[in-house]
Amino acid sequence: MVSEKDAVEEARQLVGNCVLFSGLSPDERAAIAARARIRILAAGETVFTIGSAGDQMMALLSGTIRISVPSLDGKELVLALLHPGEVFGELSVLDGKERSADAIAENVCRLAVLDRRDVLSFFERNPSAWPKLVGVLCQRLRHTDEVLAEVALLQLPARLARTMLRVLKANVATAQTAKKQMGKIGFSQRELGNMVGGTRESVNKCLRKWQSSGIVQISEGSIIITDRAALEEIAAQT
Ligand code: CMP
Repeated sequence: MVSEKDAVEEARQLVGNCVLFSGLSPDERAAIAARARIRILAAGETVFTIGSAGDQMMALLSGTIRISVPSLDGKELVLALLHPGEVFGELSVLDGKERSADAIAENVCRLAVLDRRDVLSFFERNPSAWPKLVGVLCQRLRHTDEVLAEVALLQLPARLARTMLRVLKANVATAQTAKKQMGKIGFSQRELGNMVGGTRESVNKCLRKWQSSGIVQISEGSIIITDRAALEEIAAQT
């Protein structure tokens, strides 16, 4: 069993891997880790919901967080999937307004949770961290612009192919998947539908067509990409 001391030490190291806190002195990193509370979430657990008050920011230590907006009829549009080292919940902490999206644990997650006053005093002590946060916001806006343009301008097969290629890239970046499973898409057809602004049925129809052309293999609920070059060709269609 991991002792509490070891868990705190591990959290301290992981906080240092976080995009905002990398490059800090060991003392400052220890100070941030000491202020953070560690929260563990089960798969499917909600961190917070859109519209709620938010006075905490989270650094993701392990697992995947899904950021999404729900519709009244129960549909969901996935805005982003966040991986270890990323932060979220920063918007409400910075502007004092309500949460702009839902945050849900895609699998078991560990978070370092920081109160607003600690985040603000951190930035006061470390003004060099501002450009890093601005970099995170810019990168997210760029990604959202890209997805929005895809939803508005591309047909479903190209959107789906692009999304699946992004998932593969994230598999490699987070090295969470064993090597032989790098081509595996760890999302259900419904989840893929939520990521591309389509329905489970439309995703299923497209995947079945791709399966008969040997581009993917669907078995027991999992999707394996078997011809990446063909998928890249479909993704390039405009
Ligand atoms: P906040 O508004 O406090 O709560 C929801 C969080 O989701 C938000 O802070 C950001 O951290 C994150 N978020 C909102 N919109 C996006 C987006 N388009 N891409 C990535 N993350 C987002």
